[in-house]
Formats: sequence, C-alpha cells, structure tokens
Amino acid sequence: MNNQKYLIAANWKQNGDAKTLIRLINDFIRLHKKVKPVCDILILPPAIYLETILNRLKHHKISRKRISLGAQNISSYENGAYTGELSVDMTKDYNCNYALVGHSERRHVFNEDDKIISKKVRLSIESGMQTILCVGETIIEYDKKLTKKVILRQLKSALVKSVDLFKSDHSKIIIAYEPVWAIGTGKTASLDDIRDIHSYIHNSLSKILGIKTNNIKILYGGSVNDLNASLILSLPNVNGALVGGASLNSKKFIDICSSI
Ligand code: PGA
Repeated sequence: MNNQKYLIAANWKQNGDAKTLIRLINDFIRLHKKVKPVCDILILPPAIYLETILNRLKHHKISRKRISLGAQNISSYENGAYTGELSVDMTKDYNCNYALVGHSERRHVFNEDDKIISKKVRLSIESGMQTILCVGETIIEYDKKLTKKVILRQLKSALVKSVDLFKSDHSKIIIAYEPVWAIGTGKTASLDDIRDIHSYIHNSLSKILGIKTNNIKILYGGSVNDLNASLILSLPNVNGALVGGASLNSKKFIDICSSI
C-alpha cells in the first residue's frame, strides 16, 4: 500500500475567527509554495469558514489536488427539518471532498453513538466524499487493555452497512486511529502501540471486507506535532496524520507535512 501518498489533515475544530483563519491559511499557503511537501493535505475548517478558506485557495491558485477541503462533521440525515445541522451535500457546494465522521469529540461530547456514526459513514460515501472514520479508546479502556476490542466494535458497527460502497474502491474510506486520551493532551501513544494497533486495524479491515489485504489508508491522530511526526509517519501501516492543535500553527503544520 505504501506507494500511495500520505495524507496530512488539519482539524481546526472550533478555533479562530475569520481574521485569524485567513492569516493562518495565507501563511500556510506561502510556506507550502516554498517547501512543496509531497503529501496530500486536507484542511478541515469550522464549516462557516469553508467558503472563506476556499476563496483563499482559489486566490492563490492552489488546486484541490494539492490542498483539499473537508467537513469536520456532517448530519446523519440527508436534508429536512434538522435545525443547526449541515448536510453532506451542502459541504460539496464549497468543494469539500472529505468528511470526518465519528471524531472522539463527536462521540464523547455530543454523545454520537455507533448507529449515528454508521448512518453518517453511509451518507458520506454515497455522496462521493472520501470519508475519514475516527476510532479510538478512552484511557479507562486502554488501562483495561480493551483497545482492540473497542476498535473492532467501532470499525464493524460503522462500516458493515457500507462495505458495498467501498469494496471495489478502497480510497473512499480512510480510518483515523486516535486514542481519546492522546487528543489535545500532549501525550502520544507509544510507537510500539501505534505499530500494533495500526496493523490490527489493517487486518481487521481485510476481515470486514472479506479479502486478504487492502489499500485503506490509516491515519494516526492525537498530539501529533512537528517533533514527533517523522517517527510516527515512518511506522508501517501509518499512512498519514490527523492533526489538531499543531495545525493551528502554520510553521508547525508545514513541518509535519514535510517530515515524510
Ligand atoms: P490534537 O487533536 O492534535 O490536538 O491532539 C487531534 C484530533 O483531535 O484530531
């Protein structure tokens, strides 16, 4: 699988405002033109700024192939009377071609359960999005050595109803392994744990698909920064990173993108 490009995604979460995010994307584009990283880059801005960021990319003549845009979250409904929600098709109006589903903050802060996540995965793939499904264990589950059990449950429940949609094109789904206790804490999983869990996810995906091996990308997330990225990204079955805090600093984020 490793002749595929790495994917480095910036999850800006609910941070910044128009002024700071325009400055951030302008700085990042300037560094990107200088450094020319070889990986695929994805920006996940707060949805209300998708158009603003899209306009900056267009203004600087950055093609969608070099820096893509994605949605941090999508509704589990196609459309209708769901106040405050954002349909996957609406995000496509702003050139989004990726959607994040089941981020730990959606699962744990907004109580999204396996059923909702499974619906979102299907809607997202059906609408043509490259869909990034996040999985990961809490610290209690980690301490009880339940990591693999939890991840297998999250993978199966989110994917079994959509296997028909990505069976013949593995690029439609991407997995992000993010231990909940590593997100925003400055603690990353050990390299041995990342190697072990990514290989477990890779093998579990083959089983879910009913085939011997697969080309599904698996990203690591959880306190990835400019100092630890190159070691993490050199591990087998690590095909990119999902970056939160460090993606809010253009210099740190370009360093992560160029550490491959
Ligand atoms: P972090 O966030 O890099 O700040 O730990 C990662 C994520 O939540 O995707």
